[in-house]
Amino acid sequence: MTEAILLVGGQGTRLRPLTINTPKPMLPVAGVPFTVHQITRARDAGVTRIVLGTSYKAEVFREFIDASDLGIEVVIATESEPLGTGGAIRFAAEHLTGGADDSVLVFNGDVLSGLDIRGLVDHHERTRSDVTIYLTPVEDPRAFGLVPTDQHGRVTAFLEKPTTPEEIVTNNINAGCYVFRRSVIDRIPAGRVVSVERETFPGLLAEGALVSGVVDAGYWLDLGNPLSFVQGSRDLVLGHAPSPAVPQHGDFLALAGAQIAETANVHGGSVIGRDARVAEGAVVNGSVVFDGASVGAGARVRNSIVGLGAVVGEDVELDGAVIGDGAVIGARNELREGVRVWPGVHMAECSVRFSSDG
Ligand code: GDD
Ligand code: MG
Repeated sequence: MTEAILLVGGQGTRLRPLTINTPKPMLPVAGVPFTVHQITRARDAGVTRIVLGTSYKAEVFREFIDASDLGIEVVIATESEPLGTGGAIRFAAEHLTGGADDSVLVFNGDVLSGLDIRGLVDHHERTRSDVTIYLTPVEDPRAFGLVPTDQHGRVTAFLEKPTTPEEIVTNNINAGCYVFRRSVIDRIPAGRVVSVERETFPGLLAEGALVSGVVDAGYWLDLGNPLSFVQGSRDLVLGHAPSPAVPQHGDFLALAGAQIAETANVHGGSVIGRDARVAEGAVVNGSVVFDGASVGAGARVRNSIVGLGAVVGEDVELDGAVIGDGAVIGARNELREGVRVWPGVHMAECSVRFSSDG
């Protein structure tokens, strides 16, 4: 049996305004809260018990877990103040039942990947490592934790969000999944903020602990910003990213009660949420329309997120935009990349009809 900790306490700042009401891991991705993809992947890898390390909007997780059966025991640990990634691991570990030498999987709560989870645990146990870190190569590693390794796969440094060019020593980054020997977690200080990336890993390396890296160049995505969020949803619907929680793949996914007009064109891995509506002639491409939202006639929605119950008016054009819950975008507005509309905002109609560039 393997136990796991899933870190889901972050504020999801870069996904605001969607995360004002819903914590990032509970945002719907391909029809279910993102966290369900991670929990069911862990379950299928043989994890029988998972502790959710919550903080921000913990009650949203609790309500959902209480009402669900995911085929795995889910325990919720809630920090009274956010303890950072390391502090959260230490706090959540109070709910683990394994012994000092047992392996504990730890997942960041916002990563979608095709990692061979079992293979990572096997590597950890075979090499008798203190910690094993899943690494993935990326083009621009600056927004992540850089993790150089030697020729034996032993981690030589951990450089979180490097700021100087000299620190860019590798393209392999911390992909947000670790295996810890339980006794290593027990040595993380309790009851205070600890960053596993800035304090625990560098500290372990300084004292000569065996920290191993396993590079896997398969599917990997951090759903930290709106564009990657829609990409993750799209990749799950289209079948490019693996998840047991997506039973069938297709060009789009329409949830129960969704109404899509016959002349509308929904494609590119889009999701149309429960009781959401897409009117005549509208085009929805590679986007996520949350439950109860509506897209007006002739609107064109691309790479965008339309929040719960939001209304996108006729002939509106969205490209890379985020519309907060309950917002109303009046007819003919054109909102491009990076635009975020806060929940409940009403945007007046545009009197002029813009000419589309196709
Ligand atoms: N419970 C709890 N408490 N969880 C937390 C806290 C906390 O105080 N702070 C952060 N988390 C959770 C977040 O919800 C997220 O799932 C995970 O810890 C990582 O935090 P992020 O805020 O998403 O960090 P990041 O994306 O900037 O960087 C991390 O992930 C990268 C890969 O996606 C680091 O681990 C990097 O090293 C890594 O490369
Ligand atoms: Mg993140």
